[in-house]
Amino acid sequence: MDVLNEMTLSFSSKSMNENFARAAVSAFVLPLDPTINELADIKTAVSEAVTNAVIHGYEYGEGIITVNAKICAGGRIVIKVKDKGKGIEDVKQALEPLFSTVGGERAGLGFAVMQSFMDTLKVKSRPGNGTVVTMEKFIIRRSAHSEVMSNDKNRPENV
Ligand SMILES: Nc1ncnc2c1ncn2[C@@H]1O[C@H](COP(=O)(O)OP(=O)(O)OP(=O)(O)O)[C@@H](O)[C@H]1O
Ligand SMILES: [Mg+2]
Repeated sequence: MDVLNEMTLSFSSKSMNENFARAAVSAFVLPLDPTINELADIKTAVSEAVTNAVIHGYEYGEGIITVNAKICAGGRIVIKVKDKGKGIEDVKQALEPLFSTVGGERAGLGFAVMQSFMDTLKVKSRPGNGTVVTMEKFIIRRSAHSEVMSNDKNRPENV
């Protein structure tokens, strides 16, 4: 994986941090010059994954959520949202649209939203051991990506 830029954030499992996470990821991917829609998709997907960590992973209790984002060659963005919470018993079932372990309370659409707004979605989880959600989106267009990223190399500190 040709990683051009990377960031990692760790924060407390609190609903108020959903906004923080989505704003931070959004600012991080901005040099790729995404469209408003692409940015909205990424923000929504990050929100859904962080919300899941808060409400399902840690069940509103204490814990740490880690968000890692990478910008890779070819305009590929890879985002990982990780918790060390209770984990998922049956990942295949959890990914089904409208499936929720708290049905009635929640729609069961979070993973479906992540899947449709991003280009790929992978969920790794072990009961008792937490969950890692990995999502990719490709922003291949315009000159911004290559320009911004190659301009970096021309900065004095990198020459
Ligand atoms: N980080 C997580 N830790 C533990 N369980 C999870 C996690 N994320 C998702 N799940 C499980 O997967 C199910 C499906 O998640 P999904 O986001 O699709 O729906 P939901 O959160 O129940 O509802 P909605 O997202 O529509 O409010 C959840 O009900 C929950 O049981
Ligand atoms: Mg959800």
